[in-house]
Amino acid sequence: MKAEPCTYAIFGATGNLSRIKLMPALYHLDAANRLPEGTRILAIGRRPWDQQKWLEEARQMIQAKAPGDFDETVFQRFSARLYYHQGDIKQAQCYTELVDTLNRENQFPKNIAFYLSISPADFGTVMEMLSTNRLFDEEHGWRRVIIEKPFGYDLDSAQALQKRISRYLTEQQIYRIDHYLGKGTVQNVLVFRFANVMLEPLWNRNYIDHIQITHSEDIGIGSRADYYDNAGAMRDMLQSHLLQLLTLVAMEPPVSMDAESLRDEKVKVLKSIRPIPREAVHGHAFRAQYTKGRIGGEQVGGYLQEDGIPANSMTETYAAIKLYIDNWRWRGVPFYLRTGKRMAKAQSTISICFRHPPLQFFRGTEVQCMNPNWVLLGIQPEECIRIEMTVKEPGLEMRTRSTSLDASFRQQNEKPIDAYEDLLLDVLKGDRSLFLRFDEVEYAWRIVDPILQTWAIERDYIATYPAGSWGPEDSRRLFDKESQSWRSSLTPECN
Ligand code: BG6
Repeated sequence: MKAEPCTYAIFGATGNLSRIKLMPALYHLDAANRLPEGTRILAIGRRPWDQQKWLEEARQMIQAKAPGDFDETVFQRFSARLYYHQGDIKQAQCYTELVDTLNRENQFPKNIAFYLSISPADFGTVMEMLSTNRLFDEEHGWRRVIIEKPFGYDLDSAQALQKRISRYLTEQQIYRIDHYLGKGTVQNVLVFRFANVMLEPLWNRNYIDHIQITHSEDIGIGSRADYYDNAGAMRDMLQSHLLQLLTLVAMEPPVSMDAESLRDEKVKVLKSIRPIPREAVHGHAFRAQYTKGRIGGEQVGGYLQEDGIPANSMTETYAAIKLYIDNWRWRGVPFYLRTGKRMAKAQSTISICFRHPPLQFFRGTEVQCMNPNWVLLGIQPEECIRIEMTVKEPGLEMRTRSTSLDASFRQQNEKPIDAYEDLLLDVLKGDRSLFLRFDEVEYAWRIVDPILQTWAIERDYIATYPAGSWGPEDSRRLFDKESQSWRSSLTPECN
């Protein structure tokens, strides 16, 4: 697919996401000569800035992200693409003036991608206004809309939002972002599985004991109290990013890599997840909140001490769940997913634990360490693929140790690419394979809804964990067997 010149109209262009992700990503695409000739970026914001001020702000956004990477010549070229449109997205005037700007200034390509980097509460209104002003008409070029998560607050609200926006847009015009799908290491899960024949015969219930997906962060909630206290870890990370990782690990090979075939297979996984009845929520899900603790040698406060968090908040900053996929490949294999803020380390990993060999041949010898094989996929910050095996230690005794075969993803001279670069380029190409189809979002909500509903009414108690730890000890109760436990390290755990 070829990227076509377009006008990137960013709503919320002066906000945090635009500052730390969108503008730097567009700049890097330009630096790599990936933005088609003629592409323009129209920032829409409420602040009373003129063009000059916007260019200064844009420069700061880009410099702040990667100071060592800033190139004045590239920025001059990039800044020629930038425009600022001042307006209040809640006012009709913003849109009539937008139409004028787009028509008056001949330099704006007729293909337009609208990026909604705004509060989800405003999605519907903005789309209605854009539609009323005929900005979605595709008479002279395509129109695409990129929507940030969260798509809805639960199943009902996601369905209501979908109903509303489908009045204005076709599914082909909607690009629902889950930025995890733009990460190179996440896409590598598919390559690892489907470009290597070696593991495929083992990738099922006959050989795999269980699978863990962990996303931990050492940071707290920063200045996002308003959003986070209403969302919590389950909505913020688990319903979206972690379930997406699960689909990639568990899906069947798609017929092809085109958007529909890929997403069909992902949806099949979500549909096959065994529903968690309300009465089984405690056996399948665990929530907790961080209390004060130490991170990187520094004392940090608890969640309830964060600015803007009510003293009686029951919002979870840690969520863990156990899921079963009731299909031919995975029946009986538990998938454990966990995420948390203010944990010991910032890290995302997928850890696949294989079964033990059927016979313990080495009983009665000095073999101490008979670890199962693990396949470890490091998503970030360490990007790696490792297969752990048991080998004999050199020497006269029959002792063993674990070692890992390393197929790491990036060579030292290969630069990381931010997920948003990939995704913003895909929009220009019209490639929706890394964006969510509505049924994916819908099934993901179906999975977590019973848990959220149960937690919403249990307002007396929430477990806690000290900031800087690996989360609450009691979350162990999710494991099916004594031999299972959370895996946090990417290096062999027993030598
Ligand atoms: C966002 C969540 O979607 O993902 C944040 O809202 C979280 O709370 C972030 O910190 C994690 O993304 P990444 O790319 O930093 O792992």
